[in-house]
Amino acid sequence: MAVVKANAYGHGVGPIARAAREAGAVWLGAATLDEALALRAAGDEGPLLSWLTAPGADFAAAARHDVEVTASSAEQLAEILAATQVPRIQLKVDTGLGRNGAFGDQWTELVGAVARAGVPVTGVWSHLACADEPGHPANDAQEARFREAVAELEAAGVDPGLRHLANSAALMTRPSAHFDLVRAGIATYGLPPDPAMPHDVPLTPVLSLKARLAAVKRVPAGQGVSYGYRHVTERETTLGLVPIGYGEGVHRAATGRASAWFAGQRVPVVGTICMDQMVVDLGDLPAERGDVVTLFGPGTSGEPTAVDWAVASGTIAYEVVTGLGGRIQLVHGTTTEGFS
Ligand SMILES: Cc1ncc(COP(=O)(O)O)c(C=O)c1O
Repeated sequence: MAVVKANAYGHGVGPIARAAREAGAVWLGAATLDEALALRAAGDEGPLLSWLTAPGADFAAAARHDVEVTASSAEQLAEILAATQVPRIQLKVDTGLGRNGAFGDQWTELVGAVARAGVPVTGVWSHLACADEPGHPANDAQEARFREAVAELEAAGVDPGLRHLANSAALMTRPSAHFDLVRAGIATYGLPPDPAMPHDVPLTPVLSLKARLAAVKRVPAGQGVSYGYRHVTERETTLGLVPIGYGEGVHRAATGRASAWFAGQRVPVVGTICMDQMVVDLGDLPAERGDVVTLFGPGTSGEPTAVDWAVASGTIAYEVVTGLGGRIQLVHGTTTEGFS
């Protein structure tokens, strides 16, 4: 399953969903039902699961559009069954994440409710808390609890259908958790769940963030740059103005710590990152307005990656890519049209 929630982790859900199907992802996963229905409206027809709904969700629409929904409690199961005669339901057990899913006795209640209703389920699943720390004891504990929960369902006479537990980290490090399906989110986009996690899966980030320099100027030593003068030039240098800022979801917290890629070199982002813009110090590199600067990319030529920006911003790569927005235009394809 390619997980395409949150606008495909900021990558643009329509083209990513199509690319994922073409690349062989049998399933797509969305968090909310609205996300799943939007995929249907955009023409997606394959197996599709959603898992996060508040009371009042349109389970009838889900059934009409063949979207599988997740029951995380007996109460939610009742809501689904009240909305449609032909539900496609998966069951979620909380095996220890402490988030969504039926926990402890709630699972026994949910199993009883499903068995009494006599409705088929198409899957049973759970989500790991610490999969990006492969040695963490919670992984064994959650997997064991998952097996128990599936056994309880089977003992009640319910065929569990597809069993699934693994996210990207477990896909990459924990074969015992693969069961019948794996839900790969961040790895789908070529990013590691945690850069410190040991693994042997080659990943190449698919998203690059580029801009054209909006201004280029030569400034003397001692020139303060951007709000608050957090940076002052040490020598005469060339500054390039990048028309991307926190309005695009780039973190202001990366101020003073991030670098970009220009003319085959890493160049520091200097001064406070603003709402619409930031400044790169180009040193003595020849530069003109309109030249392309890459904030992050695949990393294969030495350019920074979303992971580098995550480190600079004090966050994770998930947040760096998912938070992109504002005035950014997403361009899909193997070349980024208009940019070299
Ligand atoms: C239920 C569920 N499964 C799978 C994923 C994918 O996780 P990852 O991006 O770490 O692969 C997510 C994302 O957080 C999720 O919420």
